Amino acid sequence: MNASRLISAILVGAFLFGLYVVSFFVPGSLDGELNYMSAKGPVALEQLKVFWYTVAVSAFLVVTVGGAFVYALFKFRAKPGEDFAVPEQSHGKASIEVGLIIASCILLVVIAIPNAKALFYVNAPPEGAETIKVVAIGHQWWWEFQYPELGVTTANELHVPVGKAIDVEVRSADVLHSFWIPQLAGKMDAVPGQINTMWFQADEAGKYYGHCTEYCGDSHANMRFLVFAEEEAEFKKWVKNESSDAAVPETVEQVNGQRIFMQGCNSCHAIKGTDAMGVVGPNLSHFGSRVSLGSSIYDNDTEHLSKWLKYPQKMKPGSLMNLEQVNMVLSDSDVENLVAYLQNLK
Ligand code: CUA
Repeated sequence: MNASRLISAILVGAFLFGLYVVSFFVPGSLDGELNYMSAKGPVALEQLKVFWYTVAVSAFLVVTVGGAFVYALFKFRAKPGEDFAVPEQSHGKASIEVGLIIASCILLVVIAIPNAKALFYVNAPPEGAETIKVVAIGHQWWWEFQYPELGVTTANELHVPVGKAIDVEVRSADVLHSFWIPQLAGKMDAVPGQINTMWFQADEAGKYYGHCTEYCGDSHANMRFLVFAEEEAEFKKWVKNESSDAAVPETVEQVNGQRIFMQGCNSCHAIKGTDAMGVVGPNLSHFGSRVSLGSSIYDNDTEHLSKWLKYPQKMKPGSLMNLEQVNMVLSDSDVENLVAYLQNLK
């Protein structure tokens, strides 16, 4: 490769990198649902700081090494009129080589210190902080959320109070998953037979998006979840509702729906206050109060719920909810009754 080609390649690279940097300053570009650059809590902010710090040190390296290289290209190239004989070669200079090794070590330490500090910071909530404990369990392909201190078990929609540290224990029920809420914290692997810890805190009320970020099979891409950060009073109200028994069916349709549910669905799903105690699928005690279904890939409305009950394999490929496999045939009226029952579980 000759010098002019190399310089063109460097210029193109620099231009693309420049576009990338500029894109951060375009209004709205940081508002993406899965954009870790839009940190909304102390843990995500700490991780973002470490990211930028490491980028800055790396950029310094690229510029100095690249600069010296380009300088040498011009300084020592063959000038017009000169003959192209190989110039005099020299081999090594101890002071320069030792100096470069020491400089490299210093740069590594400069990067390592803030990274190590951040690792300890994100591992557990600050000492003495008031926390809420959550156990997040990855399943193929949904998330189970338990609040052991509050007597709540739910799925795919995590509710947390604003400004409070959430002490998370990440586990897996089957294969490797990874727990990630880009704007709040991430990522922590969910490893079968192992308990990993992390924490996060939302400083602003709102809805945050989470995603499994470790390939875990057919529906890895469909393994999402939502985090609702709410004011304390609203969160308490949610906990009170979630920790109470499920609503009792009232209409004829709802009663029929419950009867159908207890003839099969109950072996995989639990509903608080009934005989349904399955633990294979999501706990549905207050399913009607969730905004999404199928681990946050569909709106929780009549249309999607009916489709889900009828064709779970089409709605989420590979889902453990395989009605053919268990010879469960749901008629249209069964589906209508089930929808009525489930939607009443507010
Ligand atoms: Cu779970 Cu990917």
